Amino acid sequence: MEIKKVVIPCAGLGTRFLPLTKTIPKEMLPLLNKPAIQYIVEEALNSEIDNFFIITGKGKESIADHFDTCEALKLLLQEKNKSHLIINLEKIIKAARFSYIRQCEQLGLGHAISMAQHSIGKEYFAVMLPDDIIISKTPALAQMLRVARQEKACVIAIQEVPVQTVSSYGIISVKKQITPNLFQVGSLVEKPDPKNSPSNLAIIGRYILSSKIFASINEIQNNEGEIQLTDAIAHMIRSGEKVFAYKVQGVRYDIGTPIGWAKAVIGVASQDPEAAPHIEKFISELNTLNSFLYDNSKTIEHS
Ligand code: G1P
Repeated sequence: MEIKKVVIPCAGLGTRFLPLTKTIPKEMLPLLNKPAIQYIVEEALNSEIDNFFIITGKGKESIADHFDTCEALKLLLQEKNKSHLIINLEKIIKAARFSYIRQCEQLGLGHAISMAQHSIGKEYFAVMLPDDIIISKTPALAQMLRVARQEKACVIAIQEVPVQTVSSYGIISVKKQITPNLFQVGSLVEKPDPKNSPSNLAIIGRYILSSKIFASINEIQNNEGEIQLTDAIAHMIRSGEKVFAYKVQGVRYDIGTPIGWAKAVIGVASQDPEAAPHIEKFISELNTLNSFLYDNSKTIEHS
């Protein structure tokens, strides 16, 4: 099973991150000095997937610019002996092939994925949601590819989440548990009420899908103006396709919200050899700093 293509939907408006996302794509939010989308691209390349189909929209041009060469910058850095600052990005640009597909209407994740139908053909392919940053020794996508090849079937990444948060996720129902981390999926439901949720096993933004998904996307009803990928996968299962869910190993950050992004920055910085000591010191001092700032009895003396 050769899987070389990945679809990355980046056309979303980022409403949970307004007002920032009025002019800045949330995919370009930095985690230290790298934009979030670069983590996604690196995870795919480290999983030997190098053909990228980025679903894009108005105001997202900086994503394509980021993965493009800039001769003027290269020359300037060479002159200053600072080429090392972009060497990794240059390697990515050489190793990957990027195509951009414009989604003109916001009709949901299923619709966004369907924009890539003609580029995918009859192959299995990956989908990565750029809101989900997964940090792990073995890339999350590589873990899933191993399962997809072993089962010769579709695979969805899942994690256990607290029951009261299931309404933020697509949730699976288990048909059969195969190993502690691997399940055959019975069905899926998008953002259920905790009271009616079939489990607390939540989809976390990585999928290996058969091209049959496109027929399912085309067939399902337009649910309140949005075509959900979750509903299309459920339809595909009803049509006889086997789908597995795999609990990926790694730390997952949802950077689609300001709090999730702040956690990701701290999490990533605390693993970075240069930043970690500074971050740890700062966090341990934070209580003291805050009490200094917010306690009126302590004032800054000016000479
Ligand atoms: C999307 C999917 C959902 C999945 C989630 C993971 O929802 O529709 O099934 O659980 O990503 O991050 P969104 O967060 O875009 O609303």
